[in-house]
Amino acid sequence: MKRTLGVCYYPEHWLETQWAEDAARMAKLGLTWVRIGEFAWSRMEPEPGRYDWAWLDRAIDTLGKAGLKVVLGTPTATPPRWMIDRHPDMVALDKDGKPRGFGSRRHYCFSHKGYRTECAKIVTALAERYGKNPHVAAWQTDNEYACHATTLSYSKAATEAFRDWLAQKYQSPDALNRGWGNVFWSMEYRDFNEIGLPNLTVTEPNPSHVMDFRRFASDEVASFNRLQTEILRKHSPYPIAHNYMGAITEFDHFATGADLDIASWDSYPLGFLSDRVPADPEHKRRFVRQGDPDFQAFHHDLYRAVGRGRWWIMEQQPGPVNWAPYNPDPLPGMARLWAWEAFAHGAEAVCYFRWRQAPFAQEQMHAGLLRPDSAPAQAFGEAETVAKELAAMPDVGTTKADVALIFDYASDWAWEIQPQGRGFSYFWLVFHIYKGLRRLGLNVDILPPDTGDLSAYKLVLAPGLFTLSDPLKAALVAHKGTSLLGPRTNSKTPNFSIPVPLPPNLPGLDARIARVESLPPDCPVPLTEGGALINWREKLEGSATVVEAAEDGWPALVAAEKLHYLAGWPDDTTLARILQRACAAEGIETDPLPEGLRRRDTATHRFLFNYNPVPADWGGVSIPPAGVHWSAL
Ligand code: GAL
Repeated sequence: MKRTLGVCYYPEHWLETQWAEDAARMAKLGLTWVRIGEFAWSRMEPEPGRYDWAWLDRAIDTLGKAGLKVVLGTPTATPPRWMIDRHPDMVALDKDGKPRGFGSRRHYCFSHKGYRTECAKIVTALAERYGKNPHVAAWQTDNEYACHATTLSYSKAATEAFRDWLAQKYQSPDALNRGWGNVFWSMEYRDFNEIGLPNLTVTEPNPSHVMDFRRFASDEVASFNRLQTEILRKHSPYPIAHNYMGAITEFDHFATGADLDIASWDSYPLGFLSDRVPADPEHKRRFVRQGDPDFQAFHHDLYRAVGRGRWWIMEQQPGPVNWAPYNPDPLPGMARLWAWEAFAHGAEAVCYFRWRQAPFAQEQMHAGLLRPDSAPAQAFGEAETVAKELAAMPDVGTTKADVALIFDYASDWAWEIQPQGRGFSYFWLVFHIYKGLRRLGLNVDILPPDTGDLSAYKLVLAPGLFTLSDPLKAALVAHKGTSLLGPRTNSKTPNFSIPVPLPPNLPGLDARIARVESLPPDCPVPLTEGGALINWREKLEGSATVVEAAEDGWPALVAAEKLHYLAGWPDDTTLARILQRACAAEGIETDPLPEGLRRRDTATHRFLFNYNPVPADWGGVSIPPAGVHWSAL
């Protein structure tokens, strides 16, 4: 496969006289893709029902004739001002019941029927006009569902749709009352129409109620997206993508992704480190210009799974962004390293965001490949280098890993609803385990929670899963390799109650969680072999073999043959020891790497990525700061 580069471009931001030169420069730089259109609704339909396609026809023509392939976005993340006059109640309401109004973007409620009808109209018009255009080669639906916390809406439209969803799921109010345990605090309902959304309650709402609301909201994203994909497919043979955003888990990407051909994500490594990655100040300082060494790779592996093998970077950070608490300049070389790391994880394409820095509006402080005066910015030359390297390089096709890690969006909602201790986050627990694997130089495949076949993997990890799906349970029973579950795995019923028999209730493993505790950050629980459990631990009883124990005698890791259950959140030392033991048992070769150096094997090459601000020496090679090294396998 030919791996390619691209860029995000907004012809509507620039004089038409500039387009041809921009297009020629993009092509000369070695770019293949240009993504356009996703925020241009006010120019596509300036008045309700009056379309203006002439400018977009010319833009697509100009870009296409320069040799570029267009990814055309549906503009539904930015409904124009007139839309609010037509549908004043289409905006989402926040948890306090306040409208999230016009003046930026994503100001819509997924459940609003009138807005969905407007979306269907504009997508139909776009698809009819460009569905077979020879210069268009792919679609993007909307832009970053859930970004700016926009999945949950507490509107009237959402309330009505939620009631319908509940009626279909439970069939009778009695069944819902039993499922949620509404006898508690006299919360019982007599009719589905009595049920509200889980906001504005005096104290915490019932977790079962919130969990169903989260599932409902996720389903709304999937059906909103499906509305668009069904229209696009009717008129166009081109593949359809959506651009997801890092560490955003408000909806189930596997479910939405089932209707798409390509998963893509928007990678802003420095913004994420500053804004999202929980890390100590020393780590943030060391990687301030490079990004966390595992955050990008984790998402690459996740989206390879969401896209069933097909995935892209739709937006790649080129220089300082504008939206994080601090917005440093990337170390020279990082715009190249980030692209190569994506290709090594199987990306088909990497598109930089954006072509030219906009001198106006919200993102005027956000870098592009070009400065506002059209002179090249730092990343321009790095993109050019990557384009040349790609042209000279044989393909780097992906390979299957020996290690699999299960990721489940619903578990993230569950533990956000009921953390039981400030330090417990499902997302960061999974990421912590992923980091531990990467420090050992391992390739990792991420798998969805309904995976039914694990036979290709020697080691499978499933931390923190709220419930175990039937297919996964069966696959674990059949699995011949080592598996490591817990903490909190299989600890609730789908309705969000504690099951009896008590968790983890794993076939063949005699272990029961007698009680749990959460811990402040400065209260680790030391283990007899060194290291500690932090944040969370469970007291297990039963006859399973105790592999590791805490100094106070509570079992920390138990096993029945190759099935292991971990009764807490391991610190780095404990995690490294447990993973190394598991790899040794399965004959998986490990390569414990120095800080900030990461390895990825493809079908043909071994890549090393140096995220450090200093050179790294490894395996007989010296890799400069922000350097990439590859050798044929
Ligand atoms: C993304 C978004 C882009 C742009 C970019 C800035 O989240 O999709 O439209 O806003 O961030 O970094």
